Amino acid sequence: MCGIFGYVNYLVEKNRGEILSTLLEGLKRLEYRGYDSSGLAIDGDKPNEVFIEKAVGKVKELEKLVNSQNLDTSKVFESHSAIAHTRWATHGAPSPLNAHPHRSDPTHEFVIVHNGIVTNFRELKALLMSKGFVFETETDTECIAKLCKYVYELNKHRNLDFSQLAKLVLVELQGAYGLLIKSVHYPGEVIATRKGSPLLIGVKTDKKLKMDFVDVEFPDITVEAVSTTDTLPNPSLLQVANNGLLNPLMGSDLRHSQSRAFMSEDGVPMPAEFFIASDASSVVEHTKKVLFLEDDDIAHIYDGELHIHRVRRQDGQSTTRSIQTLEMELNEIMKGNYDHFMQKEIFEQPESVINTMRGRIDFDTKTVTLGGLSAYIQTIRRSRRIIMVACGTSYHSCLATRTIIEELTEIPIVVELASDFLDRRSPVFRDDTCVFVSQSGETADSMLALQYCNERGALTVGIVNTVGSSISRQTHCGVHINAGPEIGVASTKAYTSQYIALVMMALALSDDSISKTARRHEIIDGLAKISSQIKTVLQLDDKIKQMVTSELVSQKSLLLLGRGYQFATALEGALKIKEISYMHSEGVLAGELKHGVLALVDEDLPIIVLATKDSLFPKVVSSVEQVIARKGNPILICNEGEHPVSRPADKSLRTLEVPATVDCLQGVLNVIPLQLMSYWLAVLNGHNVDYPRNLAKSVTVE
Ligand code: UD1
Ligand code: BG6
Repeated sequence: MCGIFGYVNYLVEKNRGEILSTLLEGLKRLEYRGYDSSGLAIDGDKPNEVFIEKAVGKVKELEKLVNSQNLDTSKVFESHSAIAHTRWATHGAPSPLNAHPHRSDPTHEFVIVHNGIVTNFRELKALLMSKGFVFETETDTECIAKLCKYVYELNKHRNLDFSQLAKLVLVELQGAYGLLIKSVHYPGEVIATRKGSPLLIGVKTDKKLKMDFVDVEFPDITVEAVSTTDTLPNPSLLQVANNGLLNPLMGSDLRHSQSRAFMSEDGVPMPAEFFIASDASSVVEHTKKVLFLEDDDIAHIYDGELHIHRVRRQDGQSTTRSIQTLEMELNEIMKGNYDHFMQKEIFEQPESVINTMRGRIDFDTKTVTLGGLSAYIQTIRRSRRIIMVACGTSYHSCLATRTIIEELTEIPIVVELASDFLDRRSPVFRDDTCVFVSQSGETADSMLALQYCNERGALTVGIVNTVGSSISRQTHCGVHINAGPEIGVASTKAYTSQYIALVMMALALSDDSISKTARRHEIIDGLAKISSQIKTVLQLDDKIKQMVTSELVSQKSLLLLGRGYQFATALEGALKIKEISYMHSEGVLAGELKHGVLALVDEDLPIIVLATKDSLFPKVVSSVEQVIARKGNPILICNEGEHPVSRPADKSLRTLEVPATVDCLQGVLNVIPLQLMSYWLAVLNGHNVDYPRNLAKSVTVE
């Protein structure tokens, strides 16, 4: 998915070479999000000059391009603003032209990088073309750069500062954005703003900041719409303009306001560096002090200060943004001794599940306390139903835990794919609890579904990995799964941690039920052992690699059968396999086998059956028999010593034996052989495990 990185230095001398390597390193840290092209914009050799470099492919292609340009890398800038981007194509194919930054005109008066989608770009483009602007790309983003110049020209006589200009531009945009704007008219300055797309600003100063927050600046006079009838002839845009274009703050002197946090004791300007990014991974190596922007915040960085503006004040809205200290270490997001992030994350699971439970489960007293839910437990218990909403792997963790949540809480549960839930405009009521499960906390479909449920007055709960993410902040309450950063596009440790967080939620919700005590204790005892059992399952790695090498690597298709708790495991295993090995793979409900899928079964089709012991085991055994009767030769994931088919003729059956746990937790163990299988299928086929083609880690577009 697209990534943004910006760098501003003020009274901190940096030569062009240093600035370029800061930008390129910043982009490399964002690579894991998935992208197809990248670009950057820096100051040129003369005033009012901006260099833009863009390339298709990995950031190293951009690096090669930059190196080939013979730029004067020794040129020193005392103050400078630079912006950079990794693009994941939505409007327009990956190409140097469509890559960001985009420009307002051939002289680069305004250059911008953008994450998200401008939904009214066609209208804006039509207007701007009628004003003589020549568009050169197929992107929605280009219209923002051109709109900046258009609005700048219209208001030239007003001497607007950069944030005032940005307000006039942003009010015209519909859709979602994380946006950085740089302009020759405002040298050394940057505007950073967001709506529905994450953006944070890292701050680095030699001296300690005076405050650990930044004040939000609101207009101090009523902001009124101005008529621009005479300038905007397009009727639909006229409407937008009349309702939208704001009267800039004539006479107000915001430029002279000083940010309390950045005010130095002696009044002398303080040297400062700012790192602006869509993701903390590119900032932590420079500074741990970060500020997360909120939707509609307009951050204006100039003269070593960070100002946050908003167009209007709203009741109940915070008037400050805190500068937080990020705990995340860079080595947390590095590969360690593993060949791939995905492999590292699979093998991290014994620790990540412990981190999910740490401080929350007391295994002696058999109690579960979720700090993030405690004030809301009663409300959730009283809800008419629980709607679980998610996408991809996160959706599977909902499916995997639905039964146990329903069993323990006795509240009806609906599990929804976020996109389908939104497409159906499904009814939501004030007495519903809506649970949003997301690793990134930024998935656009899940975010939109969250906003939809918030608007309808339901209680919203997040089960999220990324602290500070949009879903984490916009839900009423929730649980951070604390799995640590997940970088491989194929989600692994987040799945097992989401699974456990959801089981813990069910345990916390049912701790007032005496009749459920024995069941709850059984599950808590199961959780106590889960980490060491995961370690045991991981020992299957060599066997799985061999199995993949000898019989699966060149197959075209693979079926996974499961039922009950293990249906979700089958779906998740199939998703892992198709995501990174590009092999067709399907998770099938074993009970549905005879209703169609059996037609595919022969001696050649690889089939994996999830056949661990639970109440449905006899039915699974029957499915295995049906497969064998059609000459199928399934691989069985079963419990140690609990081979589902024991007749001598079936000796050739291959098994992957996993330890037994409580039925509702067995999916945590069963999914791991499938994660490893997908990993080896991808590696042995020579595919890029961490960055599979066409996929992104964080899908921030609908
Ligand atoms: C919190 C602290 C943790 C500390 C512990 C000590 C954070 C992020 N966590 O953990 O560092 O060790 O207290 O008691 O500061 N939330 C949402 N939506 C979500 C996820 C969370 O609104 O999707 C809210 C929760 O309701 C809660 C807050 O974020 O108010 C933190 O959640 P969580 O980290 O799960 O809480 P604790 O486990 O109590
Ligand atoms: C993307 C990822 O498609 O989004 C998947 O590639 C992920 O791995 C899905 O499961 C949902 O993401 P999230 O962050 O909301 O859990």
